[in-house]
Amino acid sequence: MPSEQTALDSHDLSREYFERALRVSPGGVHSPVRAFKSVGGTPVFFRSAQGGTMTSVDGRDYIDFCQSFGPLMLGHRDPDVAAAVQEAISTAWSFGACEPYSLELAEWITSRLPWVEMLRFVSSGTEAVMSALRVARAATGRNRILKFEGCYHGHSDSLLVKAGSGLAGAAASSSAGVSANVAGETLVAPLDDEEAVRKIFAEHGKDIAAVILEPLPANYGLLIQRREFIEETVKIAREHGALVIFDEVISGFRVALGGMAEVLGLRPDLVTYGKVIGGGFPVACYGGRKDLMELVAPVGPVYQAGTLSANPVGMRAGLATLQKIERVGAYAQMEERTGRFCDELNSELQQRSLPFQLTRTASIFWLHAQTDDVIRRIDQIPGHHANAFAKVFHRALARGVYLAPSGFEVGFLSLAHSDELLERASEALVAAIEESI
Ligand SMILES: Cc1ncc(COP(=O)(O)O)c(C=O)c1O
Repeated sequence: MPSEQTALDSHDLSREYFERALRVSPGGVHSPVRAFKSVGGTPVFFRSAQGGTMTSVDGRDYIDFCQSFGPLMLGHRDPDVAAAVQEAISTAWSFGACEPYSLELAEWITSRLPWVEMLRFVSSGTEAVMSALRVARAATGRNRILKFEGCYHGHSDSLLVKAGSGLAGAAASSSAGVSANVAGETLVAPLDDEEAVRKIFAEHGKDIAAVILEPLPANYGLLIQRREFIEETVKIAREHGALVIFDEVISGFRVALGGMAEVLGLRPDLVTYGKVIGGGFPVACYGGRKDLMELVAPVGPVYQAGTLSANPVGMRAGLATLQKIERVGAYAQMEERTGRFCDELNSELQQRSLPFQLTRTASIFWLHAQTDDVIRRIDQIPGHHANAFAKVFHRALARGVYLAPSGFEVGFLSLAHSDELLERASEALVAAIEESI
């Protein structure tokens, strides 16, 4: 651990917990980015959270911009969601049988998002994507999938791939334990490059079951795409008889109720949601065209199941979250608040000639090393960004601001981030950046 970080890093109880955790779990964590590997130092252990803040085991409060990596649109333990969860816990935890709660959430969603004619609940975004791909392969009788470099779709084998060398679009596995055969069924294209998509389809079109993309890529920084690139990709896929899957695990119910499909006015064949849909509980779903969803068991031949799928606690937390988002007009409020936060912070950074900036869509932001142009692809991210971010991260942490612990993760605002909280955060971030350079 760099000595500089040791000086900033005085979370005594967290250190003790981490040493214990290292003995019983790989890297001391249950999901890799939590380990602070890309920023260095010891992860903070948190004991409780409320609204826009979290409290560490040492009793320190942090303004939280990680928000569990996106699900907490209303902030931690929103009172209306808490009431729904309390009620759920007092009635039943899990049936493994039919119940009305998943029906209510499914009807709520399908009545609002016309491209979701049917859906199936699962417990994670990974499962949702994996299942949607299975449906696409079954529907088309084709095996290959096209994904984009810099988009993350969970950790199922066929999506743990990176661009390989050689043939157009060829992929190599990006994780040990993924067989070359499985990785070879996925093709990888650069973002922001419709010519590359055209070329890959020209070469492999008859084998491609689906193109999958995050219409707002938010897993390698925030790589805002040109509308024409997404429209063209959809068009090319359709010309070749491939299905279009929008992975809206982050953007769904976050940038608008209907996610990027609504923002762009595009209709995917299949779509995946997670995060906000469960209000902080393990809920995700895949859905889309009825003819495709009717391929899923028990109606059709595509097998997919889950012991805790549509868990009644998660169903009611999700419904309470979405109902409140709609009732209070959350999107307009959060657009205004996040816009002001980012604009003010950006102009402060500019005035002080500090080489960082925030890129934003709706209530999602990315703090990154300054660039002249919009970053749309991973190769456009400045080489020094990761290290520069790591320094800012620790100084922000020391000032009570918790950013996701990687320069390639985005930040989230919630409805619970008050003006007062944001003002404090803004001052802390400017000071942290100033100190770090
Ligand atoms: C776009 C996208 N798809 C899929 C996933 C996987 O979801 P989960 O972590 O719930 O498995 C994520 C997770 O961050 C995601 O951002």
